[in-house]
Amino acid sequence: MNARADAVASGTAATVAAHAAAASTTVSRAEPEGAAIPTTYGASDRPPRGDYATALSDYVCDQNWSSYTPAQHDRYRRLYADRIAHLPGLACDEFLDALAAMEAADAIPDLAKISVPLKAATGWTLVAVPGLIPEDAFFALLAARRFPVTVWLREEDEFDYIVEPDIFHDFFGHVPLLFNPMFADYMQAFGQGGLKAASLGGLEYLARLYWYTVEFGLIDTPQGLRIYGAGIVSSGSEPGHALQATEPARVAFDLERLMRSEYKIDTFQATYFVIDSFAQLFEATAPDFGPIYRRVREQSSHPAGVVLPGEKIFAI
Ligand code: PHE
Ligand code: CO
Repeated sequence: MNARADAVASGTAATVAAHAAAASTTVSRAEPEGAAIPTTYGASDRPPRGDYATALSDYVCDQNWSSYTPAQHDRYRRLYADRIAHLPGLACDEFLDALAAMEAADAIPDLAKISVPLKAATGWTLVAVPGLIPEDAFFALLAARRFPVTVWLREEDEFDYIVEPDIFHDFFGHVPLLFNPMFADYMQAFGQGGLKAASLGGLEYLARLYWYTVEFGLIDTPQGLRIYGAGIVSSGSEPGHALQATEPARVAFDLERLMRSEYKIDTFQATYFVIDSFAQLFEATAPDFGPIYRRVREQSSHPAGVVLPGEKIFAI
């Protein structure tokens, strides 16, 4: 079994996290005027994956749904079946119920079609993007309640693990909770917060918040701990680690504690943060982050996996 999580670049966390590391955006200018610029992050010498030539300056492109091949639809169907089999009793009901209601198990979803019920539920729409996009474009889309979904699907040899978000991760992992009104508001607020974080020197801390909530969050429910993070649910192997392994520290959500916490990008997480409710998450992030970023910056960071004295840890 591959020991790594399906999480190195778990969907949009890659965008935020890569910038958190102050990675340079590799830019190779696309030809048409006003077109999107291919985007990669960090020290990677892989070429940007995805066709940026058709995207506009907001990075939105056509999904071109009819161009997916039968083999791609079949691979998506098998990914869905494999991941959903790991989630009963582990993923939260909000995720599982919304996922089931989308009836998106059998073929790569048509983003425009799913946007109809999503818009009716929470005002969000799904937009297609060629792949990773720059953080300012990403935040601007979230602030407008438009969720970017990568158009391409991983190759067969990436079935268990992929280093960059694809349509399976972005759709299966992220879209179900956009049907939840409180979580939907949190995601929009996150986009608004991102747009102002750069000038406050807060991107690194905002990236940690995204990572430990949207990608790897756990929630405490009357039935026990459950997963809501997209990076966990879209991985075949991290759900068991997140909820059943003895090693990781499961720490009660605390905004400043979280912002001081480093995270792992190439292994299972050593720390998970546990919220009581999506309302708690939304309310805790409502204050102006300006003073919070300043305080966090003045303090040292905690390595992943550290438990602090007196800290509330969730038992499994
Ligand atoms: N309140 C944050 C700020 O002032 C914005 C934010 C909201 C960030 C929700 C993340 C999530 O920057
Ligand atoms: Co993601």
